[in-house]
Amino acid sequence: MRYLKKSMNISEKIKNDFPFFEKTGVAYLDSAATSQTPQVVLDAMEAYYTIFRANVHRGLYGLSAEATERFEGARETIAQFIGASKEEIIFTGSATMSSNLLTYALENTLELREGDEILLSAMEHHSSIVPLQELAQRKKLKLVYIPLAEGFALDYKEAKRLITPRTKIVAVMRASNVLGTINDVRAISQTARKNGAIMIVDATSAAGHAPLSVKDLDCDYLYFSGHKMCGPTGIGVLYGRRDFLEKLYPGFFGGGMIDRVTREKSSWREVPGRFEAGTPPIAEAIGLAAAAEYINEIGFPAIREQIEDVFSYARETLSRIPNVSIYARTDARENAGILSFTIKGVHPHDAAEILSRENVAIRAGHHCAEPLLSELGETALCRASFYFYNTRGDADRLAAGIKKAKATLRA
Ligand code: ALA
Repeated sequence: MRYLKKSMNISEKIKNDFPFFEKTGVAYLDSAATSQTPQVVLDAMEAYYTIFRANVHRGLYGLSAEATERFEGARETIAQFIGASKEEIIFTGSATMSSNLLTYALENTLELREGDEILLSAMEHHSSIVPLQELAQRKKLKLVYIPLAEGFALDYKEAKRLITPRTKIVAVMRASNVLGTINDVRAISQTARKNGAIMIVDATSAAGHAPLSVKDLDCDYLYFSGHKMCGPTGIGVLYGRRDFLEKLYPGFFGGGMIDRVTREKSSWREVPGRFEAGTPPIAEAIGLAAAAEYINEIGFPAIREQIEDVFSYARETLSRIPNVSIYARTDARENAGILSFTIKGVHPHDAAEILSRENVAIRAGHHCAEPLLSELGETALCRASFYFYNTRGDADRLAAGIKKAKATLRA
């Protein structure tokens, strides 16, 4: 691993891998919304567009074979990245598309009866809540939520109590995109399994930020997007356990996913192809695989060390600023690099605006998690999200910007 030497500040060195930092000079603290892109990812995608662009699984000429080989190679890389096998990886357009595809497919497959329950954590993102809400309305199912416990964690005791034989689907995110909390999914998935419920994990804020293993999480389905782990936008991944995928009826239909089509009916390709209707995101899958390889090269020990160091430093620095309230657990090892906060007397949108003038990028708002914000008693939060390319210097710029916002608004 290139960057593991303790004495080396990996982020100063790593910033050079990303054209964005030299071009903008921004203290970029919004990687939970989308991360920056290293040159290796841009190069991989450019090679597709300039040297071997062709559609996959269709042409019999050499270029198409090469594009297919690289696209299927990307599937293999992503499978290894999460400890799955190649047949268990479906490429989609985004985490949201993965969630919607899965919901439709489950609706087409499961025998859901009125009164059956879907259990979600209070932390879930709208991309997981809304498709399941729609499913619940169509099928007259009941939505149940795992509440928060003290310290911005899930209430695991309550989660276990809420899972019953009526529970058909459990959806828990691996890391909260608001609180940063890394959830003990396994503690819940084992109870879900015992009760015959399907366990879905939204790993979007965890992928590329902490090691991810579908076996360790013991989940049936898992999804994430590529653009928060140094990959391009327009690519999502849906993992499904092989034996589950074999029994899952497709959710989307069209070219590319069929085996035979007659005027009356059609049959489907083997998994995972039957879940990839239409031309897939080819360049994006190749770019995402390059991102995964880049992350593997740096290594999770170094990535975690950097995220935890900058998170702890920022948490400590911000907690010393009067009237700043923090919404994150204290132990950096339980956090995906996300630090949400409020400043008394400064609306989060005003804070983000003033920080933006100082060239510090944070996100403010409900972060696509309105039910969580309600549970926290807030309508909007400021959120700084740190990745392995961030430094303590970025956290200092955040703290200076917060002080400026307070001074400007006399808070
Ligand atoms: N889900 C993304 C976020 O949390 C967009 O900011």
